[in-house]
Amino acid sequence: MPDNNKLAFPDDFLWGSATAAYQIEGGVCEGGRGASIWDNFCKHPGNIDDGTDGAVAADHYHRWPEDVGLMNEIGLQAYRFSLAWPRIFPLGDGEPNAAGLDFYDQLIDALLAHGIEPCPTLFHWDLPQALQDRGGWADRRTVEAFARYAETVAARFGDRVTRWFTHNEPNVHAFNGHLLGNHAPGLQDVSIYLSTAHHLNLSHGLAVNAIRSQASGARVGLVTHQALFEALTDTDADQQAAAFSDMAFNGLFLDPIMTGQYPEAIRPMLDAASVNATDEDMAVIATPTDFLGVNHYTRYWTRHDPESETGASIIPEHRVTGAGYTDMGWEIYPQGMYRVLMRLWQDYGKPLLITENGGAFADNLVVEDGRSAVHDSERIDLLDSYLRAVHRAVQAGCDIRGYFVWTTLDNFEWAEGLQKRFGLIHVDYATQQRTLKDSARWYAEVIARNGLSA
Ligand code: NOJ
Repeated sequence: MPDNNKLAFPDDFLWGSATAAYQIEGGVCEGGRGASIWDNFCKHPGNIDDGTDGAVAADHYHRWPEDVGLMNEIGLQAYRFSLAWPRIFPLGDGEPNAAGLDFYDQLIDALLAHGIEPCPTLFHWDLPQALQDRGGWADRRTVEAFARYAETVAARFGDRVTRWFTHNEPNVHAFNGHLLGNHAPGLQDVSIYLSTAHHLNLSHGLAVNAIRSQASGARVGLVTHQALFEALTDTDADQQAAAFSDMAFNGLFLDPIMTGQYPEAIRPMLDAASVNATDEDMAVIATPTDFLGVNHYTRYWTRHDPESETGASIIPEHRVTGAGYTDMGWEIYPQGMYRVLMRLWQDYGKPLLITENGGAFADNLVVEDGRSAVHDSERIDLLDSYLRAVHRAVQAGCDIRGYFVWTTLDNFEWAEGLQKRFGLIHVDYATQQRTLKDSARWYAEVIARNGLSA
C-alpha cells in the first residue's frame, strides 16, 4: 500500500554516511603507518584553529568494531570511508604494508557482515609525506604512485568492494592546500595549484583504469565538491567573478573528467604554469566513470575584487537576512542542492550520488535518566530540508542513486580541528564515549521508510 504521508525515494536508493581516514582513525604511529602531510601540517602552531590534530581523533583505528555496530543500529545501507594511503604505502610507493591492508580487510568484512556496503575513497587528502618531500601532486611521479596504490587496493579488496571513489574533492585539496594554504601541505602558489589540479585529474583517470583492471564489475567514480558561486550583485563585474570562480574551481576538474577538455579560458593559464596536458593525458582523464559523487553544503557569495590575483573574492562573512547558519558559518540554503544537482545532471548526464551533505552545530551532550543524549534538532532540520531538495530533483528527472550524510561520527574537521561537530554520533574526546544523537535516530527512520514525512 503506498504511504501517502511520505515523500518516497526511488526503491533502490542507497542510504549511507561518510567519513575520512585522517579525520577519524587516529593511530597515526600504529600498524606501520607512515607520516602524511596532515600529520606535519598540524604540528605548525596556528594551522589548526583549536590546536588539535588527528593523532587520536575519534580513535576509530581501535574502536571500529563498536563504530560498525552503531552504523548497523542506524540501519546504514552503505558506508563511505577513505583508505589511508600512508597506512598501505608508508612511503607512498614501494612495498605495501601488510598491517595496513589487514586493517581495511577487517573493516570491510565487518561492514559486509552487517549488510553495510563498503564504499572506499582512495584519496581523502592524507598524502604520504615522503611523496610531498619529492614535490607532492605537482610532481608527475605522484600520479604514477597513485595508480600503483589503486591497483594494489583493488586487487586486495575488489572481491568484496563494488563501488569505488578515486579522489575526494580534488578541487578543495588543490585549492585549499596549494593556493590558499589553509590545508596541508600549506602552499600558496598558482603554478603549483594548476599542476596539482592536472595531476589529480590524471591520477583519477589512471586509477579508474587500474581499479577496473583488478576488479571485474567495479563501479568507479570520483567525489567532487560542487560549489555554488553566487554573484553578490547583478553587476557584470560580480557576475563575471562568480562565473570565473565556477570555472577555476568546479570546471577545472569536472570539465576534463566529464568532457576531455579544460575550460577554454583556463588553457593559457595552464600553459603559463608549464602544465603539460598532452592529448594522451586528456584521453586518460576522460576515461568514462560510472557515476559522479557530489558533496554539497552551501553557497559562496562572490564579488569582483581587483586586488585579488584572480579578480574574484569570496565573502564568507556575507549574511542573508532570514537565513540560518551552521556552526561553520555556512548558510543553510537547501535550494542550492537542487540547483547543483539539476545543473550537473543537465551538463553531464551522469548518475549522481550525493556523497556528502550535513552540518556542524554546537551540540550539547546531556544526561537524562542516567543515559546520555544529544538533542540536535537543528541538524535534523538541515538534513530534512536538503533531502527535500534532493527529492525535488529526483521528481524533476535527475538520476540520483543515493545519499550519504557527512558524517558518521564527530571528527577532526581539518583546519577547524575537533571543535566542529558534524556527526550523527557524538564523540566525547576525553573518554571516546559514543552517543547516538537525535539526528541518528531520525535518519534511521528515514532509511527504514525510504522517505521523509510529507
Ligand atoms: C568535505 C570534506 O570531504 C570533509 O572531509 C569535510 O569534513 C566536510 N566537507 C566538512 O567540511
